[in-house]
Amino acid sequence: MQLTLRIQRFNPRRDERPYYREYTIEADAMERVLDALNTVKWEQDGTLTYRRSCGHGVCGSDAMRINGRNRLACKALVRDHAPRITIEPMLGFRVLKDLVVDMEPFFEKYRQIKPYLINDDEPGETERLQSPEERHRYDEGTKCILCGACTTACPPFWVNPGFLGPATLVNAHRFVFDSRDRAASQRLEALTSRNGVWRCRTVFNCTEACPRDIEITRLIEDLKRGLLFDKM
Ligand code: SF4
Ligand code: FES
Repeated sequence: MQLTLRIQRFNPRRDERPYYREYTIEADAMERVLDALNTVKWEQDGTLTYRRSCGHGVCGSDAMRINGRNRLACKALVRDHAPRITIEPMLGFRVLKDLVVDMEPFFEKYRQIKPYLINDDEPGETERLQSPEERHRYDEGTKCILCGACTTACPPFWVNPGFLGPATLVNAHRFVFDSRDRAASQRLEALTSRNGVWRCRTVFNCTEACPRDIEITRLIEDLKRGLLFDKM
């Protein structure tokens, strides 16, 4: 089929403001939007800039707005968006070039909740064991690939870029409810700060945007309940 890609372009070294450029290519309906971007880059315009790596929904590097919704380009099929696809960078982050945004503020917030197991107990003779129920408690959050699609679809984040955002909260959930972890109290300062979990207004945009189908809003509510009822 003939496919038109309308892509937001911006080179801060040269352009005063972003603009749109259209490319028409031949594409198969079952190709991914990432394949269509590659066709443009490899056959029409080598200056087009976007991130991608694994090509299979694992690395989280190619989150972008596709016809107005945050999606991974490698998981979005052409047939679901054709014949005309508008592609823009995610909202709320500084654009470095074209579809590439500055993810450093995102990862700076992620680091605030200490996203690793902390346990200073004396190690035993064996691994620190968990029951299947204990593992299940935080399983959902382990699916996160840190693509940023949830945080940049979140209205409270748009109006307050200081908000930790859903991705950070999902990862906080993953660690504070891990029975092996001993550091929930160390994460409380960030979680209960004015930019912490209470900034969530339960909009559900994050859950809709997540390419891993993580029940983000439910996990955030679970965190809130944990804080309210001292269950961490
Ligand atoms: Fe991406 Fe989902 Fe993780 Fe948010 S929770 S960063 S949308 S994988
Ligand atoms: Fe890795 Fe899309 S390229 S998630």
